Amino acid sequence: MSALDAIHALRDALGADVVALPEEFGDKRVADWSGLPSARPLALLRPRNADEVANALAICTRYRQPVVTQGGLTGLVGGANLRGDEVALSLERMNRIVEIDAVSGTITVEAGVALQIVQEAATAAGFYFPLDLGARGSCVIGGNLATNAGGNRVIKYGMMRDQVLGIEAVLASGEIIGGLDKMIKNNSGYDLRHLLIGSEGTLAVITRVVLRLRPKPTAAATAWCGLPDFESVTTLLTRAQASLAAGVSAFEVMWAGYHDAVITNLNTLRAPLADAHPFYVLLESVGADPARHNEAFEEFLGAMLEAGVVTDAAIATNEAHARDFWAIRDAPGEYQRFIPDHAAYDVSFSIAQAGDAAQRCEARLRERWPDALVMTYGHLGDGNIHIVVDVPGMGKHDHDDIDRVIYDVTREFNGSISAEHGIGTKKRDYLPQSRRKADIAAMRAIKTALDPLGILNPGKVV
Ligand code: FAD
Ligand code: LAC
Ligand code: ZN
Repeated sequence: MSALDAIHALRDALGADVVALPEEFGDKRVADWSGLPSARPLALLRPRNADEVANALAICTRYRQPVVTQGGLTGLVGGANLRGDEVALSLERMNRIVEIDAVSGTITVEAGVALQIVQEAATAAGFYFPLDLGARGSCVIGGNLATNAGGNRVIKYGMMRDQVLGIEAVLASGEIIGGLDKMIKNNSGYDLRHLLIGSEGTLAVITRVVLRLRPKPTAAATAWCGLPDFESVTTLLTRAQASLAAGVSAFEVMWAGYHDAVITNLNTLRAPLADAHPFYVLLESVGADPARHNEAFEEFLGAMLEAGVVTDAAIATNEAHARDFWAIRDAPGEYQRFIPDHAAYDVSFSIAQAGDAAQRCEARLRERWPDALVMTYGHLGDGNIHIVVDVPGMGKHDHDDIDRVIYDVTREFNGSISAEHGIGTKKRDYLPQSRRKADIAAMRAIKTALDPLGILNPGKVV
């Protein structure tokens, strides 16, 4: 039984339209955003529905043919990349919105639909889909679930895990599990959804899902703040959560190193404040009281300025102005333009310790590479910081020494090596640092139970 036999069987069963050979899919991109090395797939499978996925996986099981599931390919940890002996299974044709149920407040979609399409469909129907991240236009719902994506609005609405009611998925055997449930409460045995969420394509292929919709906010206020120190950043966070009646929907922090580098290198961006500050916060509050929302927000910021917590602030006067603030925060999408060989980290700490942890990382990096560019920023409301390091002359695949610096500090502060991007291949060797031996053994047992031949995304996560 060779890979060739498997591909013949797949083609016979599903047709040439669904199973494309290398000469047919040509130079189509099949690697994710991580920049990690990736091979070409032996064949590219583009099923149109769950039954075709089931059929394909049953054949792959029969031939012990490894499969890598691919969504929008915006992953940052090599989770969708290939070793060379796999077929790729892309969800790109499963991109339909199936239904919006306005009474239950749900949207049912196929797993290959882009996040931004779901956001727009929700808005058009008078609702709100809150999950948001810089890759919104390209990443897809199946990928968001498989990575348990976080992003910018977790502080108010939670991660992808918190947006989902039903998941239909296909096991390696070809059996379909789960379904399009809309119940909020369902304690009938083990919740398989939560096993699949964050499993990075190693346990099953997610095919269709039911997502929760939220009421559309009717008021929004956004500010760009300059702050003197990290203590002021955490003070602003706790005061905003306590004082803003509508709560905080985004609290994105940027250390000066990030702010200055993106403003200098990307000529489409303008600094919102005249002076330089050690920290910047993009503070957003959405709510449902248009008459008083903005006034309350302005009053709150006025009090923070008076107390010296915030040194200077600009409040967005309209949506376009708010988008200009967000463009500075979304700059990671443009890194390829000025730091193509950078190393990127996605770590989390307690909110209280995140400042010290970031400072220790930067100090250790500077000891070793005095001329490194170090950019720290992130979703501080969730204790999640991203650290991006560019050492002049260091190649894109030579980051082991930087990895060790960042992950040593992460261990010293009892943090997590992955707040939101996942493990993939990139962080697999560091997993024991964030998880107990028994945790990893339990993960392996689950993997073996659901995918006994290990054909789904081999070599990823565990
Ligand atoms: P892919 O990259 O295609 O795949 C990711 C993993 O999911 C792989 O392991 C793959 O095998 C698996 N997978 C994909 N589809 C399925 C499926 N249907 N069934 C089973 N497994 C599947 N992430 C955040 O969490 N927060 C952010 O703020 C954030 N910002 C980003 C900004 C930029 C500019 C970029 C490029 C990325 C960012 N990311 C962020 C990372 C990335 O966008 C997310 O991890 C996203 O959820 C990946 O979705 P995708 O569809 O691109 O998945
Ligand atoms: C961000 C991605 C990198 O928050 O997670 O920009
Ligand atoms: Zn992020």
